[in-house]
Amino acid sequence: MAAPDRNEFRQTVGLLPTGVTVVSAFQGPGPAGATASAVCSLSLEPMMMLICLDLGSRSLEVVREAGRFGISVLGESQRGAAEIFATKAEQEEKWATVSWRDHLGVPIIEGSLARVVCEVAEIIPGGDHVIVTGEVLEVEAEDDPGEPLIYHGGLFRRLDSEPG
Ligand SMILES: Cc1cc2nc3c(=O)[nH]c(=O)nc-3n(C[C@H](O)[C@H](O)[C@H](O)COP(=O)(O)O)c2cc1C
Repeated sequence: MAAPDRNEFRQTVGLLPTGVTVVSAFQGPGPAGATASAVCSLSLEPMMMLICLDLGSRSLEVVREAGRFGISVLGESQRGAAEIFATKAEQEEKWATVSWRDHLGVPIIEGSLARVVCEVAEIIPGGDHVIVTGEVLEVEAEDDPGEPLIYHGGLFRRLDSEPG
């Protein structure tokens, strides 16, 4: 073991496979969002989620301002959305590539496997990111969600093994 440089750190922690989501909120009338994999459930009682957002993420400011956010869990067919939402394209351009709707004052992506709407609880510093915790207002899952999009080793992947 050795103290890593930045690249070694990224490569090493990138070996932890994750799901891929779009974290979203309204900026005035328009939707805003970013691809995020640093997303997980935090608490059952009360029900809470956490997301980690880069201090440089435009979506962080929108989430902070809006006071609530959505998490859309992407399926394997939504790789294109994962790619464009990971860019600094204009929000209009990002959202024109997906179909979305307003749910409880949060823009969520149609066709995603699952959706969670949260009220911001706390924003906690974490180096060059922040940890945003949110109380869950509503959840919604597809009856037959299909396969998730996976991120691992710097690549988007699909699950190709049967549950064992
Ligand atoms: C697979 C993947 C996962 C990502 N996860 C996160 C994340 O958890 N938090 C984050 O702040 N950025 C994450 N990013 C980077 C953002 O999507 C990227 O910085 C984006 O341009 C931010 O857009 P915005 O400035 O419009 O909010 C991820 C990118 C990819 C490709």
